Amino acid sequence: MTRTHSRRPIVAANWKMHTGPADGAELARAVAAQGLPLDAVDVVVLPPALGLSAVAEALRGTRLAVGAQHVHWESHGAFTGEISAAMLVGLAAYALTGHSERRRLFGETDRDVRRKARAIHDAGLTPIIAVGESLDERDGGQTEQVVRAQVEHALADLTPALTAASVLAYEPVWAIGTGRTATPEQAEEAIGWIRAAVGALHGAAAAGQVRIQYGGSVTPANARALLGREGVDGALVGGASLDAASFAAIVQAAA
Ligand code: PGA
Repeated sequence: MTRTHSRRPIVAANWKMHTGPADGAELARAVAAQGLPLDAVDVVVLPPALGLSAVAEALRGTRLAVGAQHVHWESHGAFTGEISAAMLVGLAAYALTGHSERRRLFGETDRDVRRKARAIHDAGLTPIIAVGESLDERDGGQTEQVVRAQVEHALADLTPALTAASVLAYEPVWAIGTGRTATPEQAEEAIGWIRAAVGALHGAAAAGQVRIQYGGSVTPANARALLGREGVDGALVGGASLDAASFAAIVQAAA
């Protein structure tokens, strides 16, 4: 694969609401034992919050990074049930925001995503910011407009430098957990729109540096075709990340 840029691929395992501390640590150790090409790819595991300590401990001394699936935008306060990015310092290096399940099922708004992206950076962590259109929006020809608006909101409080240091994930809602993957052409096209939106907002340098993953039913079988496309800098993997060997095969495809 020839790459026309120097962005390092990044593959993240979104375990969603699977695994507690013990089985999460076990899965993390299984992933670390896969002989991943960590010279070429950044790898992040995103366990449920309860398992963050155990997973971080299991991965200590490895080059695998840990991330949170969800944070609040304030550093502390009367927010029952929430966890702040500031609390994750020393435990996690990344935090996800804007995932369509959070947007759709838990009411996370563009404004929340904007504040969380900033809070994650303020704590010294790297945000993975997910955007993507619904099936109705795709069928209605609105994909470009939808992802552009989500990007504009999410990055509004970031500087060009913080934007460049962020990770974005293009996750078409209709492809998440459905077994229905975007075609490599669709992924490349939408990621191109996202990168153009970043450029319009924060300049060409930030657009050239920000890493943009594809997510939505990525498997070992389709990873190579998706990750081989121009501008696709890695994957955000749900279902297939719960099996260490499947996840490792996707990481290999990104190398
Ligand atoms: P999936 O999930 O790989 O199971 O489709 C991806 C995601 O939601 O990040």
